[in-house]
Amino acid sequence: MIIQRVVLNSRPGKNGNPVAENFRIEEVNLPNNINEGQVQVRTLYLSVDPYMRCRMNEDTGSDYITPWQLSQVVDGGGIGIVEESKHVHFTKGDFVTSFYWPWQTKVILNGSSLEKVDPQLVNGHLSYFLGAIGMPGLTSLIGIQEKGHITAGSNQTMVVSGAAGACGSLAGQIGHLMGCSRVVGICGTQEKCHLLTSELGFDAAINYKKGNVAEQLREFCPAGVDVYFDNVGGDISDTVISQMNQNSHIILCGQISQYNKDVPYPPPLPPAVEAIQKERNITRERFLVLNYKDKFESGILQLSQWFKEGKLKVELASILLSISLILT
Ligand SMILES: NC(=O)c1ccc[n+]([C@@H]2O[C@H](COP(=O)([O-])OP(=O)(O)OC[C@H]3O[C@@H](n4cnc5c(N)ncnc54)[C@H](OP(=O)(O)O)[C@@H]3O)[C@@H](O)[C@H]2O)c1
Repeated sequence: MIIQRVVLNSRPGKNGNPVAENFRIEEVNLPNNINEGQVQVRTLYLSVDPYMRCRMNEDTGSDYITPWQLSQVVDGGGIGIVEESKHVHFTKGDFVTSFYWPWQTKVILNGSSLEKVDPQLVNGHLSYFLGAIGMPGLTSLIGIQEKGHITAGSNQTMVVSGAAGACGSLAGQIGHLMGCSRVVGICGTQEKCHLLTSELGFDAAINYKKGNVAEQLREFCPAGVDVYFDNVGGDISDTVISQMNQNSHIILCGQISQYNKDVPYPPPLPPAVEAIQKERNITRERFLVLNYKDKFESGILQLSQWFKEGKLKVELASILLSISLILT
């Protein structure tokens, strides 16, 4: 059977912007027979995530993510349906997921690399398992639980950068659900700012491409910043950290503004900002969702419950903000 797949065609270089030509689509033959322990699946959804930029480099700079190889199929989070199974845990028609799903229309995988998903948890919207009820949702929830130090009723202000992205749009909503009294988002267009405040419950939003971020932060966070969910790093984060309170907390989720640069992770703060961080005893610990696999099951149930109760807006955020390729 002939199937299509996406392979890495070239590397952008550690300091370069990725381009479409870094990838190519090719046709290959899929064997007709599967072995004991294997399943054949058809790909339904693939997730395109910021960490993949690092996988385009020969050296990813992290011990937990491996580089994609030239002319080899690329992989990442995916969802599919079982078409044939020789593994005891799976039968035809099961929906399954993996963090290492090859970008090809159909694929034969070892059953041990797959997990079954329950469509009822997402009211049948399977792509949510790659978004709000999947890795980005878990990242926001567990990041806030583990590093946010939120105490309901204590009048805390949270700021979220990359606020209209997959993690950010959920982090702001979860910040409210866990008890922050005020949540302010930072993102790159007026349209996104409007979405955050009109649909997702953010109290205010700042367009970092327009106007003065520091001034607007002072206006929208008059009591300073207690919790900062940092998705972007760079100048935006330096500005936020400068307005953080004594004994406040940074959730170091990601540093997307630095991923096209050859810098270590996490990038060091400029000396003046680092001095503020130390002086005010602001925590900035590394956070990696994959280190909390024991919390995934309960986290998915919590996210699903909030989604079903209408407390976590998912559909709008998923349609407008996350990038999923639909393969049929
Ligand atoms: N720690 C973990 O375990 C973990 C897990 C998942 C993700 N992450 C990290 O979380 C972050 C967000 O991931 P995501 O899945 O939410 O990504 P996403 O949906 O692609 O959203 C990323 C957002 O970042 C903004 N952005 C892009 N370049 C920027 C720049 N130079 N300056 C400021 N903002 C910029 C974009 O919004 P605008 O158009 O508004 O600029 C975009 O909406 C990433 O840094 C990722 O690496 C960490």
